Amino acid sequence: METKISEIADGIYRLSTYVPDIAPPTGFTFNQFLVLGDEPLMFHTGLRKMFPLNRDALRRILPPERLRWIGFGHFEADECGAMNEWLAVAPQATPAHGQTGCLVSLNDFADRAARVLNDGEVIDLGRGKRVRFIDTPHTPHGWDAGVMYEESTGTLLCGDLFTQLGDGPALKHGGDIIGPAIVAEDLFKYSALCPDMGATIRNLAQLAPRTLALMHGPSFVGDGAAALRALADDYERRTASQRLAIVEAKAA
Ligand SMILES: [Fe+2]
Ligand SMILES: [Fe+2]
Repeated sequence: METKISEIADGIYRLSTYVPDIAPPTGFTFNQFLVLGDEPLMFHTGLRKMFPLNRDALRRILPPERLRWIGFGHFEADECGAMNEWLAVAPQATPAHGQTGCLVSLNDFADRAARVLNDGEVIDLGRGKRVRFIDTPHTPHGWDAGVMYEESTGTLLCGDLFTQLGDGPALKHGGDIIGPAIVAEDLFKYSALCPDMGATIRNLAQLAPRTLALMHGPSFVGDGAAALRALADDYERRTASQRLAIVEAKAA
């Protein structure tokens, strides 16, 4: 396995590792994002067992000990499994996550105390980079779920939202981002379908992001608001059919 590096927005780097054995024959990517600034932030730690690969990849951009912040979407192995390995090599780094995730998991799991982020709170990374944490509970999964939004580039670090299979290009300008997301959801059933899911994703559409940085798939440049509304439509279709199935089961 190798980790490929691409700059997907000004000062935001995608570190991508393709694993052909997951969902063969298409395979699956795991992506981390480095946001440069006076206080560099990495979004996702990668799997613990991939840490040596990711550490060596990061070193091609900056010395790992310069990392200052470690963020992620929700508590799960690919999102934050290597957190303590990163904290060990980056003595100035602090984990940062929402209130729920810190109370439920990080207060125990993380080797150093985390910064607890309120919904909408911004970390100023310096050099114009500002990263906002937004709570998205249970969306797509995880009680503690959230996303980060880098304001100066309009980049939504959207974690597992829009997950797709395969090893596409690092960056796609336009094109279909919904069809591949529907295929992956149908296959993995990874989302915790809940009544608020559509509204939660529509709320993100109000940011009108210019770039969507997918954890599993290519980054997308285009009308992020339209893409998020289309994703919300699909999840509302799924939750509506779930409700209908319950009504029918009760009536039977
Ligand atoms: Fe996840
Ligand atoms: Fe993930």
